[in-house]
Amino acid sequence: MTITDFAPTPMRERISRPRTYAMTTPTHFEVNYSINPWMDPSIEVDNSLALEQWERLRRTYLDLGHTVDLVPAEPGLPDMVYAANGGLVAGGVAIAARFRHAERRAEGPAYAAWLAGAAVGPVHHLDGINEGEGDFLVVGDRILAGSGFRTDPVAHEQVRRLTGMPVISLELVDPRYYHLDTVIAVLDDHTIAYHPAAFSTAAQDTLATLYPDAIVADDADAIVLGLNLVSDGRNVVMTDAAPRLAAAITGAGVSVIEVDLSELLKGGGGIKCCTLELRRTGTPS
Ligand code: ARG
Repeated sequence: MTITDFAPTPMRERISRPRTYAMTTPTHFEVNYSINPWMDPSIEVDNSLALEQWERLRRTYLDLGHTVDLVPAEPGLPDMVYAANGGLVAGGVAIAARFRHAERRAEGPAYAAWLAGAAVGPVHHLDGINEGEGDFLVVGDRILAGSGFRTDPVAHEQVRRLTGMPVISLELVDPRYYHLDTVIAVLDDHTIAYHPAAFSTAAQDTLATLYPDAIVADDADAIVLGLNLVSDGRNVVMTDAAPRLAAAITGAGVSVIEVDLSELLKGGGGIKCCTLELRRTGTPS
């Protein structure tokens, strides 16, 4: 599969909104267990390099005029740096994560407690396993929801009810791409880039119908977590390891800022994984 032509939208027509993100420092980041195919505990992690790369990402958001709130990292929770999994804030409510794996389970209450004091609306707890923005992506006024590896489909329905937003269920089929945010990039309220082969046939059909003008990525883009990016509608912050995808996004009239987060890739996460968007009430989603 190749990147399709994408009708460029002139930059001046693109609107960027200042965003508020939550991030957690990789103070305790290490790879000492394996809950996804990326994680190999025998490979050493350079923690100070991880901190340096993460800090560069935080600086990039600040330089773009966004706000970054810090969630305190907790010892013994090495994956807590992947803040996107800590919850979902949309439709005036916050939804607390419930992690699939025991190794991350304590992150759920830690993020929920922080969200409760973060002026993001009431914090709801679901019956179903759900890994926050790892599997729930807000695209304008709808939510795309992943299942297959982490988040239970029952949680999709609960999120629809609590947010009042339409939720589109999409089944993931490739274990390397265990979270939705590893294979779908939200570029603006109407535009996505995605990797079709990571989805069931039904989900591929749904995406092709909903987003006929999407940027279609391939495995070379996805395997470096090129799609695991953060966009404010005008500026895309993404890995420096996916030049072809970066060129396609630039061709769509969006500025690309490349950031190296290679040390955190060892845990199976990228830029978006480290970034939870706080859509505070009164702020358009
Ligand atoms: N090691 C973490 C896990 O397997 C990585 C999470 C990446 N986060 C994400 N939003 N995709 O859960």
